[in-house]
Amino acid sequence: MFFRHGLFGKARPNSRRMDEQYWKRYRIRLKNAKAIEGIAKAGELVVATLDLVAQELCPGMTTEEINTLVHEFTLKHGARPAPLQYNGFPKSVCVSINEVVCHGIPGSETVLDGDIVNVDVTSILGGWYADASRTFCVGQVSEEARNLVRVAKECLALGIAAVRPGATLGDVGYAVQCHAEGHGYSVVRNLVGHGIGHAFHEQPQVMHTGRPGQGIPLVPGMVFTIEPMINQGGHQTTCLSDGWTVVTADGSLSAQFEQTVLVTDTGVRSVTPFDLEA
Ligand code: MF3
Ligand code: CO
Ligand code: CO
Repeated sequence: MFFRHGLFGKARPNSRRMDEQYWKRYRIRLKNAKAIEGIAKAGELVVATLDLVAQELCPGMTTEEINTLVHEFTLKHGARPAPLQYNGFPKSVCVSINEVVCHGIPGSETVLDGDIVNVDVTSILGGWYADASRTFCVGQVSEEARNLVRVAKECLALGIAAVRPGATLGDVGYAVQCHAEGHGYSVVRNLVGHGIGHAFHEQPQVMHTGRPGQGIPLVPGMVFTIEPMINQGGHQTTCLSDGWTVVTADGSLSAQFEQTVLVTDTGVRSVTPFDLEA
């Protein structure tokens, strides 16, 4: 690809000019090779952490036990859990069950047979952040809940597939929204994906709804999350009195998958890769 500015040949992902333009216009920090390497290492740890949770999660486990598992595994690998004390969040991981959309606080609640459980892991390794989440089906899950989880996973896959230099954030949101709404589900609007790397939440905001060709153009070196929250019922949410736990307003189920992705010279690379096919 070449830029409008008339730069032919191989795109220079982090030309100082593009860096400056994206910083000035959007407050987006494009990542250089060193940053990408650091974020990808953090991403490997996040993926390994989610794999560990997948192995251990079972009915009867408390969300506090999931927290301990994630916390200790993160420290053992020389990293820090980003959620802990982030804006006062009291735990090291978010665990969001059934109608909980996101930001569930681990505690005495027990995971039950038939629950859908999102575990959202963000690690800081060597100063670099990576963020990913999966929704697990625990035990015998109803067909309607399994369908929701499958479509939420497909929404993430389609969002990632829309990422390439020259596409826009609107293209990403559009891909997610079409798929979710095409299945009769709704897309949460008031929580979004985000730039990440030097910090937990950077610019840009990544909406999971949108129109083709609208929004910020994607350029190599952008690193952001795509993390659609898909509701069985309406898209509206309510925050509980703990100040964190977000639930669906109508009590319907919600499912979410998240990865951190990098815009490359030719397309996209997930730096928190896990299987979205299965
Ligand atoms: N990991 C969440 C995200 O995807 C953010 C959690 S913030 C916390 O952006 F404080 F609740 F941990
Ligand atoms: Co997350
Ligand atoms: Co995120």
